Amino acid sequence: MASIDYDSLIPNNVDLTHNRRLKRALEKWQPAYIEWWKSVGPQVFPTNEIYLRTAVSTEKGGWANFGYVRMPEYRWGIFLADPETDRVIPAGDDAGKPVWQDIPGEYRNVLKRLIVVQADTEPASVEQQRWLASTAPSLYDARNLFQVNVEEGRHLWAMVYLLHAHFGRDGRDEADELLARRAGDEDKPRILDAFNQPCTDWLTFHCFTCFTDRDGKYQLGALAESAFDPLSRTCRFMLTEEAHHLFVGESGMERIIRRSAQLEREAPNGDVRALGGIDLPTIQKWVNYWYSYSLDLFGSEVSTNAADYFASGLKGRWREAKDYEDHSCLGKSKTIAYVEGGALVDRDIPLRNAMNELLREDYASDCARVVRRWNKALKDEGSSVEITLPHPRFFRRQGIYTDAHFNTSGELITEAEWEAKMDDWLPTDDDRAYVDSLMKPVLGQGKFANYIAPPRRGIHGNPVDFEYVRTDG
Ligand SMILES: [Fe+2]
Ligand SMILES: [Fe+2]
Repeated sequence: MASIDYDSLIPNNVDLTHNRRLKRALEKWQPAYIEWWKSVGPQVFPTNEIYLRTAVSTEKGGWANFGYVRMPEYRWGIFLADPETDRVIPAGDDAGKPVWQDIPGEYRNVLKRLIVVQADTEPASVEQQRWLASTAPSLYDARNLFQVNVEEGRHLWAMVYLLHAHFGRDGRDEADELLARRAGDEDKPRILDAFNQPCTDWLTFHCFTCFTDRDGKYQLGALAESAFDPLSRTCRFMLTEEAHHLFVGESGMERIIRRSAQLEREAPNGDVRALGGIDLPTIQKWVNYWYSYSLDLFGSEVSTNAADYFASGLKGRWREAKDYEDHSCLGKSKTIAYVEGGALVDRDIPLRNAMNELLREDYASDCARVVRRWNKALKDEGSSVEITLPHPRFFRRQGIYTDAHFNTSGELITEAEWEAKMDDWLPTDDDRAYVDSLMKPVLGQGKFANYIAPPRRGIHGNPVDFEYVRTDG
């Protein structure tokens, strides 16, 4: 296994010392990255000591090294998962042939675009969350936010490495552009819409890490099945880090939900807001909003691009190599419900054209598993309410359902019905104002804001009341 060179400016396991041109190019990009981090990365406790994990080896279990770090001194680096011996192309027309170490000319542009779109999400979320720690519900939560932030920064490094190493001058230009776009900026926004939404409250943060980072997991999973082996290895290592982001979101939501049920028991008339909690109907609206925004990120249900990516081996299905026998998908179809003449009509489309939809379905069942856990927590707390996921047709702004209206069960409704019900399903200005009113920092060791239950255990075997952020320096 390629060991990590940890002594150079850019820690790496890609033998940068022996590729001087690439090393020099990345060393030129590095100060621009640090500038970007300082100007639009975490603006709260920006140079305080934070208890963080850093990758020091890509060996199983060996890569997570814990200790206090000031974020601008975090050792961002380039880590690829170890190569698989004799790996073959998992999907498409060339399935079974050896994987590519270099990019065939005809796929250069499309692969660059795929990498840039994925890469753009990494710095975007850091920008969206840059002020969030000013209202952290605890030191534990602030630390988790910063851990996610530094790792998204590292994911940007991972993608920038691919751009620099394999796309020459164009790749270097794209790497510069990744530091020039800004989440929510009118003139130079991030590429995908969910990554331009503001993230100013912790219910949003936990929904985002639960639902939107989970989209990232599935996108990375599809790219991990790529014929382009360096991309596959990069994504495989990113997935190990992504697991923690999903844990932050899933457990963070569970703690807010659990606390809501506890307050409902305590409050006269069950009025959770009267006791300063976030009531379950409000939580459900946030779930509806972020789940459907994240479904959009998979692209259209029917897509010739998706078919082309699959055919050429640029992307595979989720766990393509492990879970499937037939990697061609030719001669097969999938039924998709189209909106035609004011009704839903089933149509069979070639399976390759439904690759976005297949990935979205894998994602949706993963989300359903998460929601079942939350509902178990609710039951444990004696609540009879359940959180549900809206139907995938609900509130979509991408794909074939964009122009119609659906209720949360996925049934077609009229625009008037939508207008009448919208405020029951999605956050209103009043809901947002209420949630915002709860966002006050709680920074004592072991102390938690009233709307969120403490976690069951701390990070890396430390107690819950550990000093995860040294607030005094
Ligand atoms: Fe990421
Ligand atoms: Fe992430």
